[in-house]
Amino acid sequence: MGLRVEPSGQACGARITGVDLSAPLDPVTVAALRRVWLDHHVLAFPDQAMDDDALERFTLALGGFGEDPFFAPVPGRQHIAAIRREADEQTPLFAENWHADWSFQARPPAGTCLLAIDIPPQGGDTLFANQHAAWEALCPAEQARYDHLVAIHSARLPYGPDGTYGARDKGRSMDIRPGESALAVQSHPLVPAHPETGRRGFYSTLGYIVGIEDMSDADAIDLLAELQTWQGDERFVYRHVWEPDMLVMWDNRSVLHKASGGYEGYRRELHRTTIAAWNG
Ligand code: SIN
Repeated sequence: MGLRVEPSGQACGARITGVDLSAPLDPVTVAALRRVWLDHHVLAFPDQAMDDDALERFTLALGGFGEDPFFAPVPGRQHIAAIRREADEQTPLFAENWHADWSFQARPPAGTCLLAIDIPPQGGDTLFANQHAAWEALCPAEQARYDHLVAIHSARLPYGPDGTYGARDKGRSMDIRPGESALAVQSHPLVPAHPETGRRGFYSTLGYIVGIEDMSDADAIDLLAELQTWQGDERFVYRHVWEPDMLVMWDNRSVLHKASGGYEGYRRELHRTTIAAWNG
């Protein structure tokens, strides 16, 4: 059976059928999936009978494991974290702000996979914002404001000891491990060329980006806040609606993503892996 690719009709995203991800993938299928991924940035595979072994096998086939700090893995695994919220949980939603996963690393993950474990009957959509589209929609004069800038990234706001998921965060069912290592900083161009397609786009956003090289903090935050509104503009967004037995993979070099609520009283759990930086 051949791959079938159904574009979402929104700013990015496609639904992929005709492939069984519970079984090992041959190299031709892996290469085809990577091509489709580069075209659509977010791939959703419905009706997949995958367990954690299959999730690990898929992640290894698509590029290998990234490094995942600040999360304790699920028992018995090194590279799978649970994105979890209990039905009666009162903590602020996890990952409700736009971000690109682990953009504060020196070699951040190319992609992320999320496997549906427990999907609520309503709400809990994941939103994706196409950052090539956000860049390309700017006129040359506006692009010139951002073109040359180098962004300073850090995990300190979410994962530092005083951060959102630091010591004050009580009652969360996810096993998050904040720490001093979150205070480190790492620079990346604000508008890099995608390492595999060469297409430019904004990389990450305010939150993991905490400053701009050669700019005062106040000016940088103003610029990044204005830019974030643009980066998440509705015209660049794909709203992903989850189904049971669904795997989603996205390209952190092309899209931002964020979680959304609307499932109060229901449990939600997904198993997550990151796909290592591309080695070319
Ligand atoms: C994440 O950002 O890793 C989680 C997204 C979600 O829960 O929808």
